[in-house]
Amino acid sequence: MRALTWHGKRDVRVDTVPDPAIRQPTDVIVRITSTGICGSDLHLYEVLGPFLDEGDILGHEPMGVVEEVGSEVTAVRPGDRVVVPFNVSCGTCHMCSDGLHSQCETTQVREQGSGAALFGYTKLYGQVPGGQAEFLRVPFGNTLPIKVPDGPADDRFVYLSDVLPTAWQAVEYAAVPSGGSLAVLGLGPIGDMCTRVARHRGVENVIGIDLVPERLERARANGITTVDLSAHSRDLTDVVRGLTGGRGPDAVIDAVGMEAHGSPGGKLAHTLAGLLPDSVAAPFMKTAGVDRMAALNSAFDLVRRGGTVSLAGVYGGTADPLPMLQIFDKQLQLRMGQANVHRWVPDILPLLVDDDPLGVDGFATHRLPLESGPQAYAQFQRKHDGMVKVLLQPGAVAA
Ligand SMILES: NC(=O)c1ccc[n+]([C@@H]2O[C@H](COP(=O)([O-])OP(=O)(O)OC[C@H]3O[C@@H](n4cnc5c(N)ncnc54)[C@H](O)[C@@H]3O)[C@@H](O)[C@H]2O)c1
Ligand SMILES: [Zn+2]
Ligand SMILES: [Zn+2]
Repeated sequence: MRALTWHGKRDVRVDTVPDPAIRQPTDVIVRITSTGICGSDLHLYEVLGPFLDEGDILGHEPMGVVEEVGSEVTAVRPGDRVVVPFNVSCGTCHMCSDGLHSQCETTQVREQGSGAALFGYTKLYGQVPGGQAEFLRVPFGNTLPIKVPDGPADDRFVYLSDVLPTAWQAVEYAAVPSGGSLAVLGLGPIGDMCTRVARHRGVENVIGIDLVPERLERARANGITTVDLSAHSRDLTDVVRGLTGGRGPDAVIDAVGMEAHGSPGGKLAHTLAGLLPDSVAAPFMKTAGVDRMAALNSAFDLVRRGGTVSLAGVYGGTADPLPMLQIFDKQLQLRMGQANVHRWVPDILPLLVDDDPLGVDGFATHRLPLESGPQAYAQFQRKHDGMVKVLLQPGAVAA
């Protein structure tokens, strides 16, 4: 089959690789019809190289049609349309039963000290072949794939794999009180969807912050108040306080993560790690303070005293300096983590078979054949051509 594979820093290719096969009686093989590129994939493209091997298949936002099932699979059958969550979770262990699918005890990557395995996401998360490919082997066929109705275009359902549950969880964890306010740092796919989910769930004062003109414009078009960081890098806190009765928002979501703009120290650490051989860089990345902390530090500044900071953006260092004085003195609450996809599916799925209150039909800015994957990664990273969300379509033929 054809699959998008990692070959080095900013080097992904579409290669011919062996087709996946059923290995366990509960496995399912899915023929992928749509598969997103995520901001998390950009971390693999640029800074997490020490945790990848050449040829690793990327991608964790796939959906498609069941092609083949193992002998013990009864929940889906060939021809069923399914979305595959980005976390590989069993659905039945203690953590999964508690709604903490990203901590699944059956798939935790214990030798790396990591939580549940993830599709297409480095040795830290089990080195499981990903879904930017023509076919994907999905374990736990009776509990992991999410069956969705036939009919509407893939755009309706594909974001159930990651974007929707991630945004839903970030808003849930933000716990904005009734009549309260929320600021969202970063208006990439995740931040944009956070603003939509927050509005849908009744938060009226939602403020979106980014520095990319098309991303700010897209949020404004949905009725979100926006602040352009490139014009307000020095007075951001004052501007946002001005929009929230002088106090600051009740909650802030960081939808930026470890590669934030405006963190020269972290950028240097990423560059240094990139120059080291993998055997040295991987432990360095795991023990050093390598994150670019600009967005997280903004979140602590912006949020009102006693407020909540909800982290959707991914961080990876272990010695990053945190402003503990400020966090403690302001009496902040912090919640974070990979999204527990299945935990939120019952809340989200009804909205997707309805009149599309979250606007998923028009969410993708680009739909491209799988063969255009390398160009799409480059364009998404540079935020060129108004690219906010791209769906690769392995079945489609290159133009
Ligand atoms: N928790 C989860 O389960 C989960 C799931 C998916 C993605 N993520 C993470 O969420 C983050 C966002 O993902 P995405 O797909 O939207 O990526 P993205 O890279 O497209 O979006 C990030 C946005 O942040 C903006 N930005 C950069 N620095 C900023 C700053 N200092 N202040 C404000 N905005 C800034 C960028 O211009 C960009 O628009 C990534 O870190 C990704 O890894 C987490
Ligand atoms: Zn993702
Ligand atoms: Zn589990």
